[in-house]
Amino acid sequence: MTFEPENDATAFHDFEHAGWQRAAAHYVSTFGTLTAQATEPLLDVVTIAPGARLLDVASGPGYVAAAAAARGATVIGLDFSRSMVDEARRRYPTITFEEGDAEALPFEDDRFDAVVMNFGLLHLAQPDAAIHEAFRVLVPGGRYGFTVWARPEEAVGFGVVLRSMEAHGRTKVGLPDGPPFFRFSDADECRSALSRAGFTGLAVRKLPLLWRLPSAAALFEAALHGGVRTSAALQAQTPDALAAIRRAVLDELQQYAQGDGIAVPMPVVLASGTKE
Ligand SMILES: C[S@@+](CC[C@H](N)C(=O)[O-])C[C@H]1O[C@@H](n2cnc3c(N)ncnc32)[C@H](O)[C@@H]1O
Repeated sequence: MTFEPENDATAFHDFEHAGWQRAAAHYVSTFGTLTAQATEPLLDVVTIAPGARLLDVASGPGYVAAAAAARGATVIGLDFSRSMVDEARRRYPTITFEEGDAEALPFEDDRFDAVVMNFGLLHLAQPDAAIHEAFRVLVPGGRYGFTVWARPEEAVGFGVVLRSMEAHGRTKVGLPDGPPFFRFSDADECRSALSRAGFTGLAVRKLPLLWRLPSAAALFEAALHGGVRTSAALQAQTPDALAAIRRAVLDELQQYAQGDGIAVPMPVVLASGTKE
């Protein structure tokens, strides 16, 4: 099955690509410590054992690929951002990282025992195409797993920033239209997208991650520079609005002070399935 780009898919894809090229420099010190926490549960649901052939799609700095290699898997990390691929190669020089697109994987059918995507799906113009592609490159019996953030009511870091932006700034800032950021936070949506692609043996559960940062200001900086959509929306605010949003974020995060910094709940949805 091939996917024709939807109306705005190309514009959104290019916007995300440009965004990740910029954000790569900030990502490791902002979201990286958080996303890396999902690595082991993600590898567990796709049952990575020594010798397994794993594809880590949207590999970013390479956390999942590195953890799988440490389990003895043969790993390829794939990301469409050259800056991310360079970052991953610098950090893990013995692992193969390639530039390529999740929506059109540059691999033949039936090539991998497992495919994973840690926090990639919510950045794609055509996430369903990526799920079908994962299915295509898996061997029969192969396992697929992905993670996304829970809804902003639960993933507090997003909730606080988005609420503050609604209250003190503009949420419509002319970004290219993309699929809803929290679409796959819904377990039923995960199940139906996976089963449409042909997966069976579906499982969806939540992981209770905690984002520890040195300060509330560090979380605001992460939102401002470490991602794409939220970062672009914040950067499009007027200086006054941005200052007001920042104040509101810092105020609301006071309740999450812990030790020398903050600890903010950021639960994650972990979904998986098998290609029979
Ligand atoms: C939130 S980061 C996740 C990185 C990493 N998996 C982790 O666990 O931290 C999202 C990654 O998806 C990549 N990405 C976004 N759209 C992509 C696409 N269409 N094809 C391949 N990679 C993509 C970005 O370049 C970025 O590295």
